[in-house]
Amino acid sequence: MCGIIGYVGDRKAKPILINGLLRLEYRGYDSAGIATMENSGIKCVKNKGRVAELENCEEINILEGTIGIGHTRWATHGKPSIENSHPHLDNKRTTAVVHNGIIENYVELRNFLTNNGYEFFSQTDTEVIPNLINYFYNKNEGKSKIDFLRAIKSTVEKLKGSFAIEILNNDFKDEMFVVRKDSPMVIGKGVNENYISSDIPAILSFTKDFYFLNDLEFAVLSKDNVEFYDINLERFDKQVKNIDWDMSSSEKGDYDDFMLKEIFEQPKSIRETIGARVSKNNMIQIDELEITKEYLQSVDRIYIVACGTAMNAGMTAKKILEHFCKIQTEIDIASEFRYRDPLITEKTLCIYISQSGETADTIAALKLAKEKGAKTIAISNVIGSSLVREADFALYTHAGPEIAVASTKAYTSQIVLLAILALYFAEILGCESEEIEKLKEEILSLPSKIEEIFDNTEQIRKFAKIISNEKDVFFIGRGIDYTVALEGSLKLKEISYIHSEAYSAGELKHGPIALIENGITIVGIMTDSNLVQKTISNLQEVVTRGAKTFIVTNQNLGNFNFDEVVKIPEISSYISPILSVVPLQLLAYYISKEKGLDVDKPRNLAKSVTVE
Ligand code: F6R
Repeated sequence: MCGIIGYVGDRKAKPILINGLLRLEYRGYDSAGIATMENSGIKCVKNKGRVAELENCEEINILEGTIGIGHTRWATHGKPSIENSHPHLDNKRTTAVVHNGIIENYVELRNFLTNNGYEFFSQTDTEVIPNLINYFYNKNEGKSKIDFLRAIKSTVEKLKGSFAIEILNNDFKDEMFVVRKDSPMVIGKGVNENYISSDIPAILSFTKDFYFLNDLEFAVLSKDNVEFYDINLERFDKQVKNIDWDMSSSEKGDYDDFMLKEIFEQPKSIRETIGARVSKNNMIQIDELEITKEYLQSVDRIYIVACGTAMNAGMTAKKILEHFCKIQTEIDIASEFRYRDPLITEKTLCIYISQSGETADTIAALKLAKEKGAKTIAISNVIGSSLVREADFALYTHAGPEIAVASTKAYTSQIVLLAILALYFAEILGCESEEIEKLKEEILSLPSKIEEIFDNTEQIRKFAKIISNEKDVFFIGRGIDYTVALEGSLKLKEISYIHSEAYSAGELKHGPIALIENGITIVGIMTDSNLVQKTISNLQEVVTRGAKTFIVTNQNLGNFNFDEVVKIPEISSYISPILSVVPLQLLAYYISKEKGLDVDKPRNLAKSVTVE
């Protein structure tokens, strides 16, 4: 949700913080602020709106310090305003804090502090944090670094909820303090300088060496050192991890928007996700997993749990897993799963999908399964993310950083990896091998087939122009095509703000067809030869009622009166969503462009949803 950045070193902090915030803006863009440590103490500048508005503030020019913290906000408590922007200071203006997450018991803590003479100037949950730190620090006799850490620890022990917190205090002019719980934060290690960020791409241009903080670990950063403390404030060492992401993957390059770049990166991201895992006539290689035939034979149910686009990828995977492994597979929305008391035993295998690996509901759903004794596999795109660290096994999609809020290349890579996983299980279980071999070949053919689809870009762009003023668009498909209809519909509503729904084509007659009227647009997806005639019949019913039709298919449809047919290459229907989604991604993209919207940063959304 919010983005946080921090710098300590020899250089002026301000331009580095602004650079980081601009790269983090996709996490939240309601308001932004930075605080630096000056000779006279903490100085803080904030503004409503995008980071550019912060840069335009005149006061920002007074910030000269070489240590500082910054924040770009996605409002939860309190509307976007200067008062509600971070950093927040305590009443004495000696401690500055930026925070990502939600403090659930902030009302109670506010009352406690108010009763102790503190005043509040914002509507945020965050403002209790610097004041609590100040409260505990003043209660301490000593004023050493460890005394200040004790005050942070006492504060953290009072907080219910999730947080990644950066802290500056006037008594420690060369140091920055951080702590996290259930909210992302990485520490970048430089030469004579160190960085904080809520995710890797924001500081990738400065360093490729990262420390990953676990829940309730504290760190103190100075320009040439990073000290780690556990919850008992005992010092410990942490291994640095090198992230070999290419810097250009988090730059727009020649593209107008990250989303378009990421759509066109899919042949590459899929190739990287396949990697050495699949090769013709060889068993699938997934070295990260230690799973035996005996274990898989004991599994009576697989749960796939995720949110949003990742959940749509999971819906496709359910069909692949059930078909190839013959294990009952259920798909669950993480925010429902965690509260619905699901039937989990030691015979349950739970697979969690999350591009960011930081989605609060997905992480909580994983913790629940672990508590109940199930094995857990995390599928994520971000090395060292929270989800990955919690899971028994982690598999990476290797799609490279995904910056646009609307997920594209992560979705296709997730399906690729889940299909590979299903085949891996099927091979271990000794399932029928001819079909497995065939699907392996088809997986290997995906990158070049996606390239072919790009030849239709102009056709899709033209249709996007025609329907850009629509109020409602419906997506239909059957079987695996229904899972793509859901994803196409989600993409469209997210970035074009057009109301759209996805229906299983067979369900139309059970209610939704009442909405069909002259001129309405229906997107039909048809890639399964066994079901195509059924969906055609459903489409005929809406055409008769005056609907415009945009069809994505790999079938020869014959002589039907559809308005636009995008032909995609043939492929096994089990992995056809990886191809059929591409025209839908492009359709959503060009409609959004046609409407002059900010494709990469759609309203009200943020890239990773680290709060419930
Ligand atoms: C849609 C989109 C969201 C995410 C969802 C889960 O384009 O990006 O629906 O898929 O918020 O995010 P992750 O995969 O990071 O858990």
